[in-house]
Amino acid sequence: MSMTSAQIREAFLSYFAERGHQRVPSASLIPANDPTLLFTNAGMVPFKDVFLGDEQRDYNRATSSQRCLRAGGKHNDLENVGYTARHHTFFEMLGNFSFGDYFKREAIEYAWDFLTGVLQLPKEKLWVTVFTEDDEAYDIWAKEIGVPEDRISRIGEKDNFWAMGDTGPCGPCSEIFYDHGEEVWGGPPGTAEEDGDRYIEIWNLVFMQYNRQADGTLEPLPKPSVDTGMGLERIAAVLQHVHSNYDIDLFQALIKEAAEIIGHDDLDNKSLRVIADHIRSCSFLIADGVQPSNEGRGYVLRRIIRRAVRHGNMLGAQGAFFYKLVPALIAQMGQAYPELVDKEKVIIDALAREEEQFGKTLERGLVILNDALTSLSGKVIPGEVVFKLYDTYGFPVDLTADIAREKELTIDVEGFEKQMAAQRKRAQQASQFGVDYNERLKSAQRSEFTGYGATAGSSEIVELFADGKPVEQLEAGQQGVVVLSQTPFYAESGGQIGDTGRLHASGGDFVVEDTQYIGKAIAHHGRAEVNLAVGDKVEAEIDAERRESVKRNHSATHLVHAALRNILGEHVTQKGSLVTADRLRFDFSHFAAVTAEEMDAIERQVNEEIVRNHELATAVMPIEEAKKAGAMALFGEKYDEDVRVVRMGDYSMELCGGTHVKRTGDIGSFRIISELGIASGVRRIEAVTGLGALRYAQQQQQLLRTSAGLLKAEPGQLPERIQQQLQRSKELERTVAELQQQMAAQAGGSLVENAREIAGHKVILAELDNVESKALRGMVDDLKNQLGSGIVVLAVANDNKVSLIVGVTKDLTAKVKAGDVVNVAAAEVGGKGGGRPDMAQAGGSDASKIQAALAAAQGKIEELLQ
Ligand code: ALA
Repeated sequence: MSMTSAQIREAFLSYFAERGHQRVPSASLIPANDPTLLFTNAGMVPFKDVFLGDEQRDYNRATSSQRCLRAGGKHNDLENVGYTARHHTFFEMLGNFSFGDYFKREAIEYAWDFLTGVLQLPKEKLWVTVFTEDDEAYDIWAKEIGVPEDRISRIGEKDNFWAMGDTGPCGPCSEIFYDHGEEVWGGPPGTAEEDGDRYIEIWNLVFMQYNRQADGTLEPLPKPSVDTGMGLERIAAVLQHVHSNYDIDLFQALIKEAAEIIGHDDLDNKSLRVIADHIRSCSFLIADGVQPSNEGRGYVLRRIIRRAVRHGNMLGAQGAFFYKLVPALIAQMGQAYPELVDKEKVIIDALAREEEQFGKTLERGLVILNDALTSLSGKVIPGEVVFKLYDTYGFPVDLTADIAREKELTIDVEGFEKQMAAQRKRAQQASQFGVDYNERLKSAQRSEFTGYGATAGSSEIVELFADGKPVEQLEAGQQGVVVLSQTPFYAESGGQIGDTGRLHASGGDFVVEDTQYIGKAIAHHGRAEVNLAVGDKVEAEIDAERRESVKRNHSATHLVHAALRNILGEHVTQKGSLVTADRLRFDFSHFAAVTAEEMDAIERQVNEEIVRNHELATAVMPIEEAKKAGAMALFGEKYDEDVRVVRMGDYSMELCGGTHVKRTGDIGSFRIISELGIASGVRRIEAVTGLGALRYAQQQQQLLRTSAGLLKAEPGQLPERIQQQLQRSKELERTVAELQQQMAAQAGGSLVENAREIAGHKVILAELDNVESKALRGMVDDLKNQLGSGIVVLAVANDNKVSLIVGVTKDLTAKVKAGDVVNVAAAEVGGKGGGRPDMAQAGGSDASKIQAALAAAQGKIEELLQ
């Protein structure tokens, strides 16, 4: 039977779909929320948390064709590409998975049935291996499937115990090999000739049983599971009756295109294979959001592109050629991977730019290298040359190694590393001035976050900082930063604050006051109580109670987000959030203050969802899928291609990397404690949950009780009693006003009696006590009326503020203007006034000068009346 790669992919997925497996689309090459892993290097990576029991899905069987990259980290095939018939940086892994459902027997039966039944591979061409100690798998193959015992080998841990990385899910495995026939050199697995190309492993069945810890110990997984992987390219080679993977349809189209563009006609040339392999990995990496750079994933991408460009150069390529292969790749794979089609332009642009940049220095670098080679005495290219090529000409080390290998030379890796370390040190020294403490911390470490499920765990110190610099040791009493290989401590992100707790070392602890990211490293900030050194083992333990509070607040934040949209409207979008142990804060867009009724409705709805006790389901999925499913994402936020989705029943679905309760019921209770506007169109809600909500309710209760106590009433009587009190104080105010008027009238009466005569006119000059300044105008009017004709000058001091008022009856205003009088008086008390000719007022600040002010007024009146 001959099948195209696309037909094989489809046959595999539908075989397992028909047997109850959920078809799961390929995830990104960039693993979601997994700092331990550079790239998705196997079909099981997107399911890692499901195997560990940290994540539940609504299916327990799955099948996928997962794009994989093995060009860095534990599984790295970059150096082999071009030199063997079956190594790739990028490949597709067909897999079927059981999450605690079926185990060894079914996994073996399915694999055998698919290979011999669906694909109709001749049974006598198949060989199998099992892990040395795995009698169970051996017996299934030998007794139930009927594979002759001379075609079953027992193999040790190196090949038959599979692990995703240095930590994480792992287990014994059983591999199926295909015999390409005696015309190819090589021997069956387990023999001295096994490295030949005759017997090729096509399918690996892993019996996932353990979670390997950082210290190497194996913790059993919650349920025995199955993870299998079959390289699409390898099985296609078998079915297309070719020996090399590079001869299958997928690759031949690319090789032909590359040969055409470069103008080279030997289709078997090794460099063409390298180029065909590399265009796949580079295009998919860029489609998944990676750009060439000098760090991390970007650097791996840069290395692969540069390696491809050099191979093109060896074939005599004139000018840029690599990016021109993208349309041919899309023609081959665009249908299965629509993201390639979407990102065509981005891919072409990035490749063209990188190719041009490197093209400029490639030739000069090669001259330097050739010079070094001619003067080379031994078989090793010195570290300084490798470093210079790297530093000045952008030759990644493995590129230089690749060139060396062609000439049967090696490179001095250690010498190169020394040069690199020296450069790093120079860079560090140069950056020590004028840089913010935290910005200065740089780490190339990646810590694994184990805290979705665990609150404690063993780990190792991989880096230490003190005073903003990397150090080998921290001394007891010193403040510093500890980076661990893996840790249950959540580093502040996504609005959720960092964990606190303790790192137990031998003889004492490191007290963790905060946890932050430094790049991909999880950094524990705090104080050492004991001497610590890089390499020390510690037992990391978070403050679990505090974390529980944080979790409640974080999950409640999702509920309140959904409730706000339900009640206020879909225009509500998240503008910011802060989740601490004490409270949650949620900022959102909304045009008006939230009314008390709306607030009640929001609070009620959130509490209803708490009571409904939804189970929280988390899943990692491609962003597009998450968005299609309706997950709420933050506008303008940059997400990885693969995102973690947190779902609470049918009520809330959000993209989120934070830690959450298991069921909404765990939140206990939810209370809004404040609502206010923080910017135009942005409101802020603060709320509390769990015992915090109880505490809040009790404080409110206490307030009510105290208030009721003051009124000698029961809390239930408060509204009525307050109403009564308000009524009463209104009545009292009225009485006071009446009394004041009476008193003023009396005082006024005596003032009129005591009025003095100045030039034949009645003049009142008086300092008053206990009179509100606003009552003065009324008094002046009154006094003017009583005088009939005359002048009134009153002064009063209230809280050291002086008020002056002058009234002049109409018949006298031609001679005496009230304003003139009040101004001379005001000058005495440090003020200024103004008004009409018959009534003017002024203020002042110096009450001790009131008598002087009155005297000045009198002087002015005398002067004017003459
Ligand atoms: N995860 C297994 C592998 O990559 C199937 O070989």
